[in-house]
Amino acid sequence: MIEVNGLRKKFGTVEALSGISFHVRAGEIYGLLGPNGAGKSTTIGVLCGLVSPDAGAARLNGIDVMQQPVQARRSLGVVPQEVALYMEMSARDNLSFFGRLYGLKGADLRNRIDSVLARVRLDDRAKEPIERFSGGMLRRLNIAAGVLHAPAVVLMDEPTVGLDPQTRASILELVREIAVDGTAVVYTTHYLDEAERLCHRIGIIDHGTILAEGTLAELRHAAGEREIVALRGTFRSEAAPEVLRNCPEVVLIRASESELLLALQSSERQLSTLLPIAGSIGVVREVAVKQPSLESLFIKLTGRELRE
Ligand SMILES: Nc1ncnc2c1ncn2[C@@H]1O[C@H](COP(=O)(O)OP(=O)(O)O)[C@@H](O)[C@H]1O
Ligand SMILES: [Mg+2]
Repeated sequence: MIEVNGLRKKFGTVEALSGISFHVRAGEIYGLLGPNGAGKSTTIGVLCGLVSPDAGAARLNGIDVMQQPVQARRSLGVVPQEVALYMEMSARDNLSFFGRLYGLKGADLRNRIDSVLARVRLDDRAKEPIERFSGGMLRRLNIAAGVLHAPAVVLMDEPTVGLDPQTRASILELVREIAVDGTAVVYTTHYLDEAERLCHRIGIIDHGTILAEGTLAELRHAAGEREIVALRGTFRSEAAPEVLRNCPEVVLIRASESELLLALQSSERQLSTLLPIAGSIGVVREVAVKQPSLESLFIKLTGRELRE
């Protein structure tokens, strides 16, 4: 659906993109995760034809965005980083305006506006001027304007910046619903937790390069860290080192009468052998798994933390 190959772009002496490549399938949410200035918005800009790259190519739905910009834009919906709406107009009138830009009209346009307003949960506030809307409501309407024409590809550039956690969660849910319909979504963010919660695959971007890419599990694995597993219950803790001796990949961090704390390479693989062993020295009532963090990988790769 989205194919990006070797994009390069310089603004004067600043190399905003230095060879960006990634692919996104239909129904997939691809996260571009990186700090401010990493090149996220420039990448989005190339995909929607606002920035012309110095090298490389991008295709949307098989159509080259540089060679056939008008056709490529037809399968594209964009949710820009800054809310782009008319504040004195109602939600419905804003959507009607954007719908006509996409070439929609008549009953088709009205029906789409109704359904998208319901989807972003603004149907009860559709007729009042949006200057009364909260930040979260404006963001939801901004998304509605980007997906009104049911595009095959949606690009979202940091759509939750500055919102409270509850509103962010509702927007993530909305993005999931959009992808379930088969839409390919590129979602840029500098929030680690959003990339973790939302994206099927994540590209970690900095200085115009994708430093690592994969599913959350793949990236965590690349971090080379172990999962921490807490087995809670009642144990003869003094026997723990002895019974765990035959599990070379399991490291016992701490053992008490109520908890065995262990580091594993893969809980998915190792829990089935571990549980009977723990059961032989007590009773397991609860298993808690703490995944190694994407954050440590991010810091390892970029040398910096993600901040506002
Ligand atoms: N129009 C522009 N003119 C000059 N420099 C730009 C322009 N757009 C982006 N840049 C620079 O390119 C780099 C990447 O910016 P951007 O793609 O906006 O990053 P992000 O969206 O990840 O924060 C930054 O160093 C930024 O200052
Ligand atoms: Mg940006």
